[in-house]
Amino acid sequence: MPYLKKRVTLIGNPLMKIEQLNLKNFRCFENITIEFSPHFNIIIGNNASGKTALLRGGCVAISSFFLGIDEVPSRPIQRDDIRLVNYENAIEYCFPVEVACCGTIENEKLEWARQLTGKKARTKLQNTEIKNLAKRYQQQVTEHVDLPVIAYFSARRIWEQSEKLNLVKKGSRLRGYHNAIAPALNYKFLTEWFKTKEMAFLQTQTRNFELQIVKQAVSQCIGMSSDIYYDIDIGALVLKFFDGKIIPFNRLSDGIQNMMAIVADIAYRCVTLNPHLKEKSVVLNRMLNRIGGFEQIYFT
Ligand SMILES: Nc1ncnc2c1ncn2[C@@H]1O[C@H](COP(=O)(O)OP(=O)(O)O)[C@@H](O)[C@H]1O
Ligand SMILES: [Mg+2]
Repeated sequence: MPYLKKRVTLIGNPLMKIEQLNLKNFRCFENITIEFSPHFNIIIGNNASGKTALLRGGCVAISSFFLGIDEVPSRPIQRDDIRLVNYENAIEYCFPVEVACCGTIENEKLEWARQLTGKKARTKLQNTEIKNLAKRYQQQVTEHVDLPVIAYFSARRIWEQSEKLNLVKKGSRLRGYHNAIAPALNYKFLTEWFKTKEMAFLQTQTRNFELQIVKQAVSQCIGMSSDIYYDIDIGALVLKFFDGKIIPFNRLSDGIQNMMAIVADIAYRCVTLNPHLKEKSVVLNRMLNRIGGFEQIYFT
């Protein structure tokens, strides 16, 4: 597969890194091993070369972490992930399907795999270390443990807006994992979150640092905007531009909506999962700014 890799150095020392991913009988791949850069990875390829397949494999691998977090679903190997091959005029499924990976979590090497052996079988986890580690994190939420930020976004997100609003563990840090691997863009969830935070600000007159961080991240990414907020009069999330124009979120172009929602979503997860890292929020903003910078390189 002609993947072109670009390397960009990111600031900070990520907690969780997937170093290698091996996919067997997964979508179009009979057997492929991909090595990732420890920094930012961009995968470029022709249509139908397997970029989405690779991302979905990565999602199965990384979401094994959620097997140890209550109420957060993990992504199993699904029926349409099973590799299909033609034999004469027939179409056959290939087994076993396997997603294996190795990575580093908190400077420790870890290997794990998920496997599906037949159409009626369930996805099994080989090596439960990743699950046990997540369970440990879950137990330590009241301590200064840094929780890994995990989020997956699909190109289909704009057409698959989620209606579900039920919050995982209301009030807990772990709500930062809510819908982390759902391909849908969680616009309603984000709106509700902004609304609650703005209301809390009006009530307590105390600046909420989580809200500030998310606002900053969005403003820095969308160069021409000065603020994002829930407008009580309009009853919607709005973007305010430097020239004073105010546009409701759902009236923005699909591209801007997507980029804004992704940035806000990542920033929201960062501050919710790790509220104790206040002083590092500058790093987060710079990182998100770079991601925004990439969009501009490719699409302007
Ligand atoms: N279960 C499957 N078995 C075999 N091939 C598949 C399966 N699912 C998808 N494909 C094929 O895999 C190829 C890569 O698809 P995809 O990952 O969506 O490409 P990209 O994202 O690079 O455009 C496509 O030709 C697609 O038809
Ligand atoms: Mg694709």
